[in-house]
Amino acid sequence: MTSPVTVIDHPLVLHKLSLMRDKTTPSAVFRKLLNEISLLLAYEVLRDLPLTTRTIETPIESMDAPFLAGKKLCLVSILRAGNGLLSGMMDLVPSARVGHIGLYRDAKTLKAVEYYLKLPDEIESRPVILVDPMLATGNSVSAAIDRLKEAGAKDIRFMCLLSAPEGVEALTAKHPDVPIFTAAIDSHLNDHGYIVPGLGDAGDRMFGTK
Ligand code: URA
Repeated sequence: MTSPVTVIDHPLVLHKLSLMRDKTTPSAVFRKLLNEISLLLAYEVLRDLPLTTRTIETPIESMDAPFLAGKKLCLVSILRAGNGLLSGMMDLVPSARVGHIGLYRDAKTLKAVEYYLKLPDEIESRPVILVDPMLATGNSVSAAIDRLKEAGAKDIRFMCLLSAPEGVEALTAKHPDVPIFTAAIDSHLNDHGYIVPGLGDAGDRMFGTK
């Protein structure tokens, strides 16, 4: 079996990620960089989308031109930080259907608690791209994938910015059928469940909260 983890370590991605890690980077710049990186990550995540051909007329002659095949993609954001990756993807694939899953981490147990769920219809026949910038313990992502599978989703990919080895291990053990796309795998998680060296709390960095 091929590895379920793809590290998208393109120089542009790594450069932008380093700027995001820097604690002096202001929220507005952090959001802009996250939006830019989402486009670069999406390029790899969507690489194997199926194509079909339709005959079109160019100004020169007719040709069988490639177009995306099948049902429209479904993008699902884990609130709130997932929205930082979502907006760029929506620009890139404007016809995609969009779902949201609201989960927060209980500060003591680090377990995911669900508070919101809204998914598009016919999710069972759509490729689903789940997005959240940080794969830390893997609890939230795992819980989100459980909900997607309960709703019938069969083709799920997970796209994030930064991962901890602990989260990658936990997620691949729980959902080995879900490929993970990440820009980097950092050293470890600290006692508070933060990725080290990481970039801090992605939601706080995006929205200027604390
Ligand atoms: N969530 C974050 O936003 N940052 C971390 O380091 C871990 C989880």
